[in-house]
Amino acid sequence: MVWAAMVVMVMSTSSFQKVAIFGSTGSVGLNTIKVLQAQKEQYDVRVLTANSNVGLLAAQAKELDAAYAVIADETKYEELKQALAGTDVTPMAGQEALLEAASMEADWTMAAIVGMAGLAPLMKSIEQGKIVAIANKEPLVAAGPLVMEAARQSGAMLLPVDSEHNAVFQVFEPENKKAVERIILTASGGPFRDATFEEMEKATPEQALAHPNWEMGAKISVDSATMMNKALEVIEAQRLFDLRPSQIEVLVHPQSLVHAMVEYSDGSILAQMGAADMCTPITNALGWPERLKTPGERLDLAKMSHLEFRPVDLERFPSVTLAYECLEEGLHACIALNAANEVAVEAFLSHKIAFLDIYHTVSEILRSAVPERLESLDDIISYDKLIRARAKSAMVENNFQQTGT
Ligand SMILES: NC(=O)c1ccc[n+]([C@@H]2O[C@H](COP(=O)([O-])OP(=O)(O)OC[C@H]3O[C@@H](n4cnc5c(N)ncnc54)[C@H](OP(=O)(O)O)[C@@H]3O)[C@@H](O)[C@H]2O)c1
Repeated sequence: MVWAAMVVMVMSTSSFQKVAIFGSTGSVGLNTIKVLQAQKEQYDVRVLTANSNVGLLAAQAKELDAAYAVIADETKYEELKQALAGTDVTPMAGQEALLEAASMEADWTMAAIVGMAGLAPLMKSIEQGKIVAIANKEPLVAAGPLVMEAARQSGAMLLPVDSEHNAVFQVFEPENKKAVERIILTASGGPFRDATFEEMEKATPEQALAHPNWEMGAKISVDSATMMNKALEVIEAQRLFDLRPSQIEVLVHPQSLVHAMVEYSDGSILAQMGAADMCTPITNALGWPERLKTPGERLDLAKMSHLEFRPVDLERFPSVTLAYECLEEGLHACIALNAANEVAVEAFLSHKIAFLDIYHTVSEILRSAVPERLESLDDIISYDKLIRARAKSAMVENNFQQTGT
């Protein structure tokens, strides 16, 4: 990331105002709106998008006086149009509309769609060369080299919003990059941090969704429970900070108060701390390079009795190892990891497969994935589709089933 050049550019402009939120109806989207509403500055919300939640999208668009409300599911267009009748908000629908919205003028864009569905609009936003706050980690995992190259070419600034990556961003000294020995991403360990294999074998979606520290969307909550989220984050960190995989470590930190650390050659470890509240990284990204006031929770250090750090139990959470294997293997493996995981998580949430079958499916798909020529976005999208089809067949062939439902 070209921090210095962008700092000068942002500080010298007074029109840092037009905002677009992709995925405004989700957990990150809602927190982004909360952060925007808490600021005294006048943000002009131009674009809000959702997949199918017409009611919430229309309510947000009216409340924020947005210019455009985009629903990805085309069949919901009439419903959205009716919900916005009599307002100045223009309804739009479908994939092309998402891309059109991403091409519109915006000074600050939040990329908070979940999964690979966010890739195409993210790329369009980046091509505009503006500031893109990025929560949507899956495109970085599966198309990281293209995403980063597009940002380099357009001059777009990617601001990490994932709490660990935002934490690294805050304590990473780009001018001292050579002195960075490692970064440490912390992991809460999720709802099954101390669970046995037997307990995880029987885990239900409801149990997996009950994260002890964070309130998040369904997919990332399940990823936290399998710790696949940390695997995705290791790859995400490699893309964003351009480090060797061996420089990226993960430690379990049950309190979720230290979000990440950077260790320098002089032995200093710089850590970023904050409440387990996405308002902090979002406020950081919205205000960057200045600092705004968060409407979120604060950390009360006097109430903290201890901070605990321990290595990940890779026997119970083998997903974390897959990240390093995939980075070693190459882009095809990263796409396969992400695509198979998205499909398996969806199947688990629909009560079709058991919790541990998420890992079984992903690792089986990875074993059969061979290097491919993946040079363009279309190559990546086609390969992603192929892997999704393979993962679906594998789950059927293996006759995976969720018990007790
Ligand atoms: N939640 C967190 O605290 C957190 C923290 C760090 C990183 N992240 C990352 O941020 C991203 C969003 O997470 P989240 O927890 O906010 O997810 P979420 O609550 O499930 O929200 C996802 C958003 O994306 C929209 N969406 C879903 N599928 C779509 C599609 N096919 N096309 C267009 N839009 C679609 C949803 O619209 P509908 O509401 O209409 O379905 C919703 O607005 C993920 O990549 C996640 O890993 C999240």
